[in-house]
Amino acid sequence: MSSAYGGFPGVRPRRLRVNPAMRRMVAETRLHPAELILPAFVREGISEPVPLAAMPGVVQHTRDTLRKAAAEAVEAGLGGIMLFGVPEDAKKDAVGTPGTDPEGILQMAIRDVRAEVGDDLVVMSDLCLDEHTDHGHCGVLDAAGRVDNDATLERYAEMARAQAEAGAHVVGPSGMMDGQVRVIREALDGAGHQDVSILAYTAKYASAFYGPFREAVGSSLQGDRKTYQQDPANARESLRELALDLAEGADMVMVKPALPYLDILSKIAESVDVPVAAYQISGEYAMVEAAAANGWIDRDRAIMETLTSIRRAGAGMILTYWATEVARLLRRGE
Ligand code: PBG
Repeated sequence: MSSAYGGFPGVRPRRLRVNPAMRRMVAETRLHPAELILPAFVREGISEPVPLAAMPGVVQHTRDTLRKAAAEAVEAGLGGIMLFGVPEDAKKDAVGTPGTDPEGILQMAIRDVRAEVGDDLVVMSDLCLDEHTDHGHCGVLDAAGRVDNDATLERYAEMARAQAEAGAHVVGPSGMMDGQVRVIREALDGAGHQDVSILAYTAKYASAFYGPFREAVGSSLQGDRKTYQQDPANARESLRELALDLAEGADMVMVKPALPYLDILSKIAESVDVPVAAYQISGEYAMVEAAAANGWIDRDRAIMETLTSIRRAGAGMILTYWATEVARLLRRGE
């Protein structure tokens, strides 16, 4: 196989991998702190942060420590923060009253964080009922115990107004109710909040990887969410959901979970002209932390590899519980 011109193999892709400087120069995908968004939990009625067993390193914040986490996020150069409120159990009810109460924990947290960061960080809020209902579903139930789509939309409209009133820059409807984006857009516009954006959870799958999140929000969910979240077996319905969300006025769209759905992310990223986000969820975080704690994988490399893969598949923004830590590493050039 040798030739007069240097022999076989004449083409050597390894030349572009010879040293770190070369690899850095030819890298196609880079992570930047500004595209990372930190999901954060704030719990009512606690005086110290509560660590989450299944998410080592993540806590339920007090109002005070949440403000500190937001200040650190600014310091680290993050793009945004996504807030989840955990009301006291006694306040949860069938319609999720704390989700619309101006004094509800999420609304208080939005005000706290805006007071802390102003416009230096994009403040987002989860727009969904499951953190606020005593049954743990993402909507209100009908007489037969099923999630009632249209009755839920009315609650989402009220939530959108409450969150915008509190100062959210972006609301993130995550309940997968049909028509939610339009109803929320109309509610926001009707209340003078034309400038509040909607980050639509466009392709949200009924995933086993949400497990640790249920602990994080103290959810009492019985059963599952398979009548409203998507079937992991399906790709086409994501494109259908995408078309609907865009037609209804979504400003940004999201795929969730991230790593098991990179094919969906890639398809969506290729077909839209709005920013695309991906949510690296609680179970994805837990898997890496658990394996690393056992010494089975190199934690930092694994984290960077997952985020790079999500970025490579087409996400312009990534929600990740590692956001602040990773942003600091990136700033140090590691
Ligand atoms: C619904 C919501 C969930 C997550 C974000 N928003 C839970 C669910 O749909 O069951 C999961 C996030 C994670 O697992 O990290 N409010």
